[in-house]
Amino acid sequence: MPADPQELLEAAERVMRRAHVPYSRFPVGAALLGGAGAIHVGANVENAAYPQSQCAEASAIGAMVAAGETRIAAVAVVAERVEHCPPCGGCRQRLAEFAAPDTPVYLGRPGAVPRVTTVGELLPLAFSADALPGGGAGAE
Ligand code: THU
Repeated sequence: MPADPQELLEAAERVMRRAHVPYSRFPVGAALLGGAGAIHVGANVENAAYPQSQCAEASAIGAMVAAGETRIAAVAVVAERVEHCPPCGGCRQRLAEFAAPDTPVYLGRPGAVPRVTTVGELLPLAFSADALPGGGAGAE
């Protein structure tokens, strides 16, 4: 039973409240609907050594893979300090590793109407395992 967008956005908002953001004060939460129907969440985790910080999407992907899931069916990203928080360039590539181009991405802000886009719209002409010799060694 796939989660509805609202459920996914609420999960992203809940985990956003757990973000570790003492430097940017810019909390972000991400929720991924996995192919098997479970929701996997993550928040941004910053570090005093700034480049070691991790985006919410990367945290959620880590949780998803740790749970044994490798397919993303839908994405929600929630932030409260901007109208919509589109995934950064690196996270678009991370999402594209596990999601088809038509995978919906819901960009939310608490109390606001979400903006809907897709992984393919966020990252056209994506580099993928298809470009690697043999489709990428060991790629599933
Ligand atoms: N951030 C995310 O977690 N996801 C994004 O897609 C954009 C940016 C975080 C990184 C950093 O902790 C804070 O937002 C400000 O850039």
